[in-house]
Amino acid sequence: MIEVRGLTKRYGDVLAVDHLSFDVEPGKVTGFLGPNGAGKSTTMRMVLGLDRPTSGTVLVNGRPFASLAEPLREVGALLDPGSLHPGRTGRSHLRVAARTNGIGRQRVDEVIEEVGLGSAARRRIKGYSLGMRQRLGIAAAMLGDPRVLLFDEPVNGLDLDGVRWIRALLRRLADEGRTVLVSSHLLSEMQQTADRLVVIGRGRLIADATTAEILRGLGHRQVQVRTAHADALLARLRERGLSVRRLDDQELLVEDGTADDVGEIAAASAIPLRHLSEVAQSLENAYLALTGDSVEYQGGPTGAATTEAAR
Ligand SMILES: Nc1ncnc2c1ncn2[C@@H]1O[C@H](COP(=O)(O)OP(=O)(O)O)[C@@H](O)[C@H]1O
Ligand SMILES: [Mg+2]
Repeated sequence: MIEVRGLTKRYGDVLAVDHLSFDVEPGKVTGFLGPNGAGKSTTMRMVLGLDRPTSGTVLVNGRPFASLAEPLREVGALLDPGSLHPGRTGRSHLRVAARTNGIGRQRVDEVIEEVGLGSAARRRIKGYSLGMRQRLGIAAAMLGDPRVLLFDEPVNGLDLDGVRWIRALLRRLADEGRTVLVSSHLLSEMQQTADRLVVIGRGRLIADATTAEILRGLGHRQVQVRTAHADALLARLRERGLSVRRLDDQELLVEDGTADDVGEIAAASAIPLRHLSEVAQSLENAYLALTGDSVEYQGGPTGAATTEAAR
């Protein structure tokens, strides 16, 4: 369990994290979603005690990170894979981390197997692909068999196999009852991975709900309909409270409602249709709409309004 309460981080003029509160529960994959610069990495560093909050608190398993007796056995994290010592082998990197945390060598070999690093573990890190570095970073995160795991943008730069592997790993860790927080700037990625989403923009909370609820909130569809009787259909649709735009003399765009609604209304009025289709708004566009205000402006009441809309 991770409990974030009123967490705030200011770097000079930049308010990187702004009164953020959310919980990350065990047994689920929680996606931490926000555009670049939203404050995801800063928040994760504060959870891990690597950065000091300007104000607010973070509890990991009920306690501040600094007071955890054996932190690596309680929390594991994949942060920046660029910070590995290039001259070491993967295995020696893990052995150093294990030794400084009182973890045995046998566990090092276990995690090497678990992440599928195998023989590569005996080679120097400087020859590793990005995917191998990610696997090594994840092996390090799992060394202490922690109940809480944080992954900061773990799929960045990975090929499809690597992405699938990480998705399956996150699922397994959550199914084992662990607390899993994984950040990304891509909704499409989180949609396939996360049970819950905590969405932030400009350091502020935008939405905190199940992935299904958030997608439903974003699931705004438009219906395109063509008929020789556009005037009549337009009037019927508006009578039923639908918001409709006229595209040309035959074509209408219904801003809300479904193809079912429009089809039934047309049928009830015996209006023949030439074309009827739902145009799903791309999820990435919908997500930009959700976070758009917070990208352009510093906070404001729109954030709170959108949170409600997304619930
Ligand atoms: N060490 C730092 N010093 C100054 N500004 C920082 C520092 N770390 C992050 N920031 C700023 O804080 C904001 C949030 O950054 P970050 O947490 O890295 O966002 P994200 O991980 O969501 O992309 C950005 O504006 C970034 O430039
Ligand atoms: Mg980041």
